[in-house]
Amino acid sequence: MEIRRIHKEEAWKLRHEVMWPEREPDYIKLADDELGVHYGLFRGEQLVSVLSLFITGKEAQFRKFATLELEQGQGYGSKLLQTVLKEAEQAGVERIYCNARTYKAGFYKKFGMKPTEQVFSKGGKDYVVMERFFTPAAETDGEGA
Ligand SMILES: CC(C)(COP(=O)(O)OP(=O)(O)OC[C@H]1O[C@@H](n2cnc3c(N)ncnc32)[C@H](O)[C@@H]1OP(=O)(O)O)[C@@H](O)C(=O)NCCC(=O)NCCS
Repeated sequence: MEIRRIHKEEAWKLRHEVMWPEREPDYIKLADDELGVHYGLFRGEQLVSVLSLFITGKEAQFRKFATLELEQGQGYGSKLLQTVLKEAEQAGVERIYCNARTYKAGFYKKFGMKPTEQVFSKGGKDYVVMERFFTPAAETDGEGA
């Protein structure tokens, strides 16, 4: 099992298959995809789970998280999300958020994400914005203590 950066086109294929197979393939593309960092979890050569990270200064949003239907519930998504949260923190992000499908809020809570008051519906699905804050690394004066 390996987690690595992937091209947006690889993410598109899996996104479409998992999230919106009933829509045309272009539906899952984001205007911002060019600016995102796309991550994939591979089992052998097979791409199993994807997630895209968009960093804007000290804030980041992760979007389009999807695991192949037959592979869900085996911990792949959790491993991928954990890795991406760590990468975001290491990149200096202080607040990360996502638009979670409401019924998935319990899943994201396991990763320290908390629901906000912001809720909305899109494409017939209900969402809640969830967020997590990272504490900036403590500044030191180089003399220990
Ligand atoms: C959301 C999604 C990406 C999660 O990916 P995943 O690979 O299934 O994630 P995991 O397997 O790590 O976790 C899924 C569940 O299985 C549980 N699980 C993890 N490892 C497990 C294991 N070894 N045995 C049994 N259960 C396990 C997790 O605790 C989690 O439970 P919960 O949903 O009740 O909180 C996936 O469900 C998906 O693609 N859904 C459709 C698209 C979607 O809704 N995307 C996200 C929108 S917010």
